[in-house]
Amino acid sequence: MADNRAIGVFDSGLGGLTVVKELRSLLPDEDIVYFGDTGRVPYGTKSRETIRKYAVEDEKFLLSKNVKLIIAACGTVSSVASDIGAKLPVPYFEVVSHSAVSAVNETKNKKIGVIGTAATVNSGMHKKLILELLPEAEVTACSCSMFVPLVEEGWFAEDDAVVLGTAGRYLKPMLESNVDTLILGCTHYPILSEAIDKVLNHKVRLINMGTSVALSVANYLKENDMLSEGNKGECTFYVSDKPDNFTNTASILLGNDFDEQKVEQVDLNSL
Ligand code: DGL
Repeated sequence: MADNRAIGVFDSGLGGLTVVKELRSLLPDEDIVYFGDTGRVPYGTKSRETIRKYAVEDEKFLLSKNVKLIIAACGTVSSVASDIGAKLPVPYFEVVSHSAVSAVNETKNKKIGVIGTAATVNSGMHKKLILELLPEAEVTACSCSMFVPLVEEGWFAEDDAVVLGTAGRYLKPMLESNVDTLILGCTHYPILSEAIDKVLNHKVRLINMGTSVALSVANYLKENDMLSEGNKGECTFYVSDKPDNFTNTASILLGNDFDEQKVEQVDLNSL
């Protein structure tokens, strides 16, 4: 039996759009409801308690939109609050575990890098999962706290001097430890992937968490007979602050898949 309810996706801001992009290419007929908590971004520099509280509120909002499944399209929430998501009344997907599997499958020299927000890196979640799958792996992890504000500001061009300088400084440990695979452990980071690739001399395989999770969601929907039938693949976006920056970057990132008429500001306190 088909399930025509939308897929719910949330992030602290724009980053989850990298997951939406991957979902659109694999599941073009599925409707998507997206929530970006732009009024409270960034999450990654906040305490575990605060991030968990935000995750509960974001998930409650998506449930109020009658979604059939929820994706925490946020490395930070996935790292510190997935136990909460696992108790939701609809299937829940986080982005961390699938990316660890992809990294282990891709690496040749068993040297894997992880970059993410401070909360994500401090949680040690990627490292733990990688070592469970490949105990002899060497994992180098570091947080890149300035990446999220750069993306939210719309600074992500590969030839932007500030972006390249910032990436060069953060990614030095990755060059020094000779990683051949790097998990972009924050969903904002694929937006900077061209600059990151350049700084790493085009020699490191970049793992986009959106690609890995979109594939798992597609398989899950097929296996559980939950694909929609006759939907037109509409995306509706909700944000918790004024939509301007979100709208600009979303239209660059999603192109024709983005309709700026479908962005609405909401107040989570009114739920
Ligand atoms: N995009 C998010 C992540 O994947 C959140 C970044 C942030 O808000 O700090 O971690």
